Amino acid sequence: MLSNYQGFERNKWSAPDTMRKLWLLFAGCASISVFLMYLGTKLISPFRGQNAYESKDVPSEITLAESEKPQVLELKISSLEEQCVGTASCREVLGQEPVNMERLELLRNVCEDASLKNVTYSGISRFVLDRIFVSDKYKILFCQTPKVGNTQWKKVLIVLNGAFSSIKKIPESLVHDHEKNHLPRLSSYRKPEVKKRLNSYFKFLIVRDPFDRLISAFKDKFLQNPRFEPWYKHEIAPAIIQRYRKNHTEVRGLQFEDFVRYLGDPNHRWLDVQFGDHIIHWATYVELCAPCEIKYDVIGHHETLRNDAPYILKKAGVDHLISYPPIPPGITEYNRTKVKQYFLGLSKRDIRRLYTRFQGDFKLFGYSKPSFLLV
Ligand SMILES: *[C@@H]1O[C@H](CO)[C@@H](O)[C@H](O)[C@H]1NC(C)=O
Ligand SMILES: *[C@@H]1O[C@H](CO)[C@@H](O)[C@H](O)[C@H]1NC(C)=O
Ligand SMILES: *[C@@H]1O[C@H](CO)[C@@H](O)[C@H](O)[C@H]1NC(C)=O
Repeated sequence: MLSNYQGFERNKWSAPDTMRKLWLLFAGCASISVFLMYLGTKLISPFRGQNAYESKDVPSEITLAESEKPQVLELKISSLEEQCVGTASCREVLGQEPVNMERLELLRNVCEDASLKNVTYSGISRFVLDRIFVSDKYKILFCQTPKVGNTQWKKVLIVLNGAFSSIKKIPESLVHDHEKNHLPRLSSYRKPEVKKRLNSYFKFLIVRDPFDRLISAFKDKFLQNPRFEPWYKHEIAPAIIQRYRKNHTEVRGLQFEDFVRYLGDPNHRWLDVQFGDHIIHWATYVELCAPCEIKYDVIGHHETLRNDAPYILKKAGVDHLISYPPIPPGITEYNRTKVKQYFLGLSKRDIRRLYTRFQGDFKLFGYSKPSFLLV
């Protein structure tokens, strides 16, 4: 197959006219079938089950031996200090260094807490490798945590990978189109290649207050649904309502209460499997990014993104190539009044169960327990 294909490519140039027509015909057929396959996966069967992970030849679980675990952190600090002598903007960026060190230390301590292991460890599964985007050119790994400004980070990486010359030039439709956006997932590499990247690349993720993120996911997917993703309202919402709605006289669409009961149910996996990858919008950071198993170099916080974004670019060694897009005022701050409003009227039992599931995310990343909701 492959050698025929290469021969075909060579002939293309020696007999340009006929081969060009054949090539166009072939490309036409190929794009039609790709489009039909796309329709098949997105519209006819929006639920990709867990077995979607089992068919590829990359192993389902990666484990790093103690000796393989990278010790790059300390080295990076001193090199940054050396780089920064004198310039004001550099000193400003360096101001984030102790903040990040504190976050990493907290993470390490919570990861070691044996009583929390059931909410802090998830394994470096295929699901996790699918969440991590790769820039081989600049040796960067970015773990995607939806509802935390990830689209912008994906655009940054797309530009770094060389597909477009600036963020403004990337068509909106292409950012999440993983066939075309030149942003490979870590899961697309073979096991030794995966390990090599996990051990040597610069790795980061961004988090925000876990309950605030769930509110954002609920609004974005079930109330507004700005992108054309009908399955959230027409497939997922009814499935959650059917299993979790208490008030049978309530006829409105998915309510935040239903959503919270689903997420806090210790048996939520029963539905998660049916929802496939769509759960990324409300799965925990632990499930998405395995922060206790993968040694991330920087943990950014959505709430302090204005400081964290330039720091991340600096640490990744790409700050002279690209800037994070301007952050509109007021969108990253935590709004306690809003969180309180959403949880108003929900039963304490449901909120406690939700917290039990998400407490790993609260503790690992230093978000305080929302006592105002729990007592
Ligand atoms: C059930 O839902 C209906 C319709 O929204 C509402 O009028 C009623 O108060 C609810 N009952 C309870 C017990 O919450
Ligand atoms: C916080 O949320 C409340 C309720 O949604 C809203 O009225 C208020 O303007 C928000 N505050 C800020 C600072 O955005
Ligand atoms: C984790 O284990 C603790 C006991 O060690 C238990 O109280 C808690 O409910 C568990 N959390 C989950 C989400 O299973």
